[in-house]
Amino acid sequence: MRIGVLTGGGDCPGLNAVIRAVVRKGVEVHGHEFLGFRDGWRGPLDKLTVPLGVAQTRGILPRGGTVLGSSRTNVLQVEGGIETVRRNLADLGVDALVAIGGEDTLGVATRLAAEGVNVVGVPKTIDNDLDATDYTFGFDTAVQIAVDAIDRLHTTAESHHRALVVEVMGRHAGWIALHAGLAGGANVILIPERPFDIDEVCAYVERRFEKEYSPILVVAEGATPKEGTMATQSGQVDSFGHVRLGGIGQLVGDEIERRTGKEARATVLGHIQRGGTPTAYDRVLATRFGLHAADAVHEGDSGVMVALRGTDIVRVPLEQATRQLKTVPIERYAEAEVFFG
Ligand code: F6P
Repeated sequence: MRIGVLTGGGDCPGLNAVIRAVVRKGVEVHGHEFLGFRDGWRGPLDKLTVPLGVAQTRGILPRGGTVLGSSRTNVLQVEGGIETVRRNLADLGVDALVAIGGEDTLGVATRLAAEGVNVVGVPKTIDNDLDATDYTFGFDTAVQIAVDAIDRLHTTAESHHRALVVEVMGRHAGWIALHAGLAGGANVILIPERPFDIDEVCAYVERRFEKEYSPILVVAEGATPKEGTMATQSGQVDSFGHVRLGGIGQLVGDEIERRTGKEARATVLGHIQRGGTPTAYDRVLATRFGLHAADAVHEGDSGVMVALRGTDIVRVPLEQATRQLKTVPIERYAEAEVFFG
């Protein structure tokens, strides 16, 4: 069997670990051959391929990013896109695809599977917001990077008696903010699932200063104020129609200064959270996903995604992967509120 592999969407620590595991098991245990597709769905659309064998995957386990490259190309937005992909796969002699990506990449995979293309999905996102799996690889690394930053910001906040706002990724789900805030001892955590009251936020900040400590606020990029008075979006959209976010941390900081008279500064962690080497947890999870994806393809399974349930790797229908987002339940947020202010 000839198996194509692609990585789509935002890059994520652990992608290379998945690629290595799929290829290693697929070649050495199941006896298949592989073809790499470059830059997400652009690869199958434009026949952009790279050789992919055991030799090409040596040494990539700890490497961040993806050796295959990535893009947010959306096949469904290209006229005749599905047909082109199907024809190109047939021309290249590719019998099945392993698509590693988040909701957008897997949405295309779901559609292709429905059209008869053999596809197995592997869930990826630092946001941990795919409902069909307990965890996605990359999340643990992103949280650790944010916690390292928060630890450093605590000491400078104390030295200067400032409020420090840390903006982390999380467009629709506040998992990174919640976990990084809990682990980093944040005094306020703002997430997209719970629109915030800026008066309440300022009250927490003032209470913290009264205790002679400097507040750290962790804000997810998708967090929004209750009143809807602060502009939060740039208006630019990508090919999946997502608005480019960024800037809520600065806006919260400005508002704190204006309302409390205390100095406030904002730090945006941005793509630092997606870069560099994965944690051991993410390497293990990504490797297990890759091994199980190789088995699924070998067994002729299609239209499925590998997922973590408890400590087991299972297969779930691909359409489940994109049906709904896994957002932070309000009770989980309430746990963190004990430490606010
Ligand atoms: O999907 C993961 C993610 O990290 C989101 O949290 C964030 O909004 C988005 O990627 C930003 O990605 P990019 O800047 O690559 O478009």
